Amino acid sequence: MSSKKSTPSHDHDQVHQPPKEFAKKARIPSLAAYRKLYQKSIEKPAGFWAKEAKELLWRKKWSKTLEWKAPFAKWFVGGRLNVCENCVDRHAEGARKNKAAIIWEGEPGDKRVLTYGQLQREVCRFANVLEKKGVKAGERVLIYMPMIPEAAVAMLACARIGAAHNVVFGGFAADAIVDRLEDSGATTIVTADGGWRRGKVVPLKPVVDEALAKYRHVQRVIVVKRCENEVSMTDPRDTWWHDEVAAVSARHKAKAFDSEHPLFLLYTSGSTGKPKGILHTSGGYLTGTYSTCKYIFDMNDEDVYWCTADVGWITGHSYIVYGPLANGVTQVMYEGAPNFPDFGRFWKMVEEYGVTIFYTAPTAIRAFIKAGDHFPAACDLSSLRLLGSVGEPINPEAWNWYHKHIGGGKCPIVDTWWQTETGAILISPLPGATPLKAGTATLPFFGIDAAILDEAGKECKPDQDGRLVIRKPWPSMIRTIHGDKERYRKTYWSDYPGLYTAGDGARRDKDGNFWIIGRLDDVLNVSGHRLGTAEIESALVSHPAVAEAAVIGRPDDLKGQAVAAFVTLKGGFDESVGLREELRGHVGKVIGAIAKPDDLFFTPGLPKTRSGKIMRRLLKELVTTGTVAGNVTTLEDFSVVENLQRQISESRARQ
Ligand code: PRX
Repeated sequence: MSSKKSTPSHDHDQVHQPPKEFAKKARIPSLAAYRKLYQKSIEKPAGFWAKEAKELLWRKKWSKTLEWKAPFAKWFVGGRLNVCENCVDRHAEGARKNKAAIIWEGEPGDKRVLTYGQLQREVCRFANVLEKKGVKAGERVLIYMPMIPEAAVAMLACARIGAAHNVVFGGFAADAIVDRLEDSGATTIVTADGGWRRGKVVPLKPVVDEALAKYRHVQRVIVVKRCENEVSMTDPRDTWWHDEVAAVSARHKAKAFDSEHPLFLLYTSGSTGKPKGILHTSGGYLTGTYSTCKYIFDMNDEDVYWCTADVGWITGHSYIVYGPLANGVTQVMYEGAPNFPDFGRFWKMVEEYGVTIFYTAPTAIRAFIKAGDHFPAACDLSSLRLLGSVGEPINPEAWNWYHKHIGGGKCPIVDTWWQTETGAILISPLPGATPLKAGTATLPFFGIDAAILDEAGKECKPDQDGRLVIRKPWPSMIRTIHGDKERYRKTYWSDYPGLYTAGDGARRDKDGNFWIIGRLDDVLNVSGHRLGTAEIESALVSHPAVAEAAVIGRPDDLKGQAVAAFVTLKGGFDESVGLREELRGHVGKVIGAIAKPDDLFFTPGLPKTRSGKIMRRLLKELVTTGTVAGNVTTLEDFSVVENLQRQISESRARQ
């Protein structure tokens, strides 16, 4: 990256104090105020969270704030609420009735605004549709949609009737849908004909059809007409959204559900096996997303907030749908690619809508740096007052560029650390309180007891690398892995009994700031998206030519990590450029385009230990440095490494 050379290294250590003007108006206006409230919240987390939860609308108050039988938590026990009512009706029936809830822009440039009143009517209509079609509370509904308002409407309608949604990112392939249907048992799908991306229609309904040819238990598919691309409709299973909503009332009485009623399942990659269905429930999740939006994004009624994530990921769930709407904020939602028609798109939208809070991912920032400073420079970005980052560690070059070229040097940046499993942000600066340094997510949120431990479970000293753990339960935490309590316990709670292990390596500096280093398991972070090496390997091995495959992540300037695959072919198949492309395409077909290996090396064998374990550490070293300096005494056959070393240096020479 060109900025790497131009940024003097001392910039990276610079401490940015919260701007005085910002701090004056912020809910938490100083580090001392943060520390005082944090201390109190950590001594009595239930007290802190109960106070936050009281700001929501409960039909019945809880009798006990937390019931903790590690690793199973119940928050706001006995309380009853409707999550959708909190996000929509509360505002639609009050002063925010005609306030814009969602200002949406389609990629081709079409625009729609939904006020809270209109959002309520849309959501009520779709809730009536779901109920009319027989969808019951407790059932699962799979949502496979582009970034159009109907995606949020469908999620909220599910929440309203107590059905758990399972949103599947629109970039995932048919097999990913099949896996999720099989695991969740969903019998209803909400989708669209397609969505716009980089000037082209990305078909969605045809992918659903492909999935449904393999999985036959789906009873109803409701399809939004977005792109008018040709789709086939199977009668009576498939119906059009617009026909359905036209036939029902715009009023719907929301029932209250138990605080622990399932709100959604979201599948995410782990180090082994198929993606796991992370279960989030109602009262605690809403409290966590509501409260973090309030303090970390410091949301106010005047704000125009924009999170550029897709609703298919946890960021879209927590920081497009539930958190911001629970706060009654106005937000911008965008359908398409950041570089359509060019890299100025986001900045034109910031200018047009007067966005005040902007939340994006480091990978996008790096792409903007590469595209050139002239894109943001051409727009008036002075409305911005706060910037956010999520999904991976933000490298200092990206942080400094974001701060200067987007924030005009005046906006705090909240580098928010969290996970699908945590439901809400756990470590982040508070913009009016926390001194910032490029690259650190800084300090834990209220009620979050985060620590870094060594292998023996002892707390690490300042600047010592260790494993990030959370020592006390929090309301928006994962409740279980759908259908697999044992895997839940084993994955998150077995490294240190009673403590949640995040799977991330981290260290704290002498000021207590958390620096996240990255995953410690076989999970890749490609452009801020989580992918399991095991998933990609199994996709490769499902191709008839492949005998064995190993996948690792290598550093990449734009994506953070890129996917490198090592493939051994079955006898009778020849290594060729054609086959290499076919295998990359095959992974795209099985999982989705984001999982396609960037590098694919053929190898007659994989480096293994004498006991047959693939030495991924060695492959990682090979693609990162081009050679192997580490300990290879356990390696079974060194010629495998020599051969790969040669291939890698040849491929570098070609680039
Ligand atoms: O490794 C951490 C990284 O993303 C992982 C969680 O991925 P996912 O569940 O897909 O959720 C992404 C959006 C919350 C974490 O284990 N990660 C997320 N945010 C940060 C981060 N790494 C460093 N800094 C962050 N701010």
